[in-house]
Amino acid sequence: MLNNQGFDLWADGYDKSVALAEENDEYPFAGYKRILNTIYNHVLSQAGKSVLDIGFGTGTLTTKLYQQGCTIYGQDFSHRMIELAQEKMPEAHLYQGDFTLGLAKELTEHQYDAIIATYSLHHLSDTQKVRFLSDLLELLTPSGCVYIGDVVFHTRDELETCRRRMAEMWDEDEIYFVFEELRHAFPKMEFEQVSYCSGILYLKRKL
Ligand SMILES: C[S@@+](CC[C@H](N)C(=O)[O-])C[C@H]1O[C@@H](n2cnc3c(N)ncnc32)[C@H](O)[C@@H]1O
Repeated sequence: MLNNQGFDLWADGYDKSVALAEENDEYPFAGYKRILNTIYNHVLSQAGKSVLDIGFGTGTLTTKLYQQGCTIYGQDFSHRMIELAQEKMPEAHLYQGDFTLGLAKELTEHQYDAIIATYSLHHLSDTQKVRFLSDLLELLTPSGCVYIGDVVFHTRDELETCRRRMAEMWDEDEIYFVFEELRHAFPKMEFEQVSYCSGILYLKRKL
């Protein structure tokens, strides 16, 4: 599992390496652009425009939302990723912090119309995911939504099939989402499959 220094080193080459993997339809980034575009369209079609991005990286998605007038908040633990994102979004409220330890205090003092996390929360164990997502739900406005774009499978069997197919590339340190399992904790969660290894999870506040 990459730590913050690992992500610091990856930061300047990140966009290029993701684009290359995406173009070649390679795990884990097959479907990356479609995921980001879909979330972008959902967020802009919502009423409010206050957005929290967890693990925003170089700010690929949030910069586009920022340019459309969204107020951007975010947390990432990589100093270099924050520098790159802040350059593109000078007015964004970006905080450094390890989300396995929770959100920065300043971020817990707001409510968000959209909370997005793309290719970041697979760094949490399944138990941590449930706890963290429950905390995020509390920070949503009544009509808000959490969007998770990541390596996601409908079932454990599908994950195992992909693991066997991608044996040489598979990252054993990353803990991918299994929709059917997560749905036990969040019955209202919805899943949209985007590629053979990725998709979007939608989670709304219980009303
Ligand atoms: C694969 S990148 C994804 C970046 C961006 N969301 C995207 O879709 O391109 C993962 C990001 O999450 C951040 N990250 C990973 N683990 C983290 C943690 N425990 N706490 C905070 N940020 C973390 C990394 O620094 C990196 O910027």
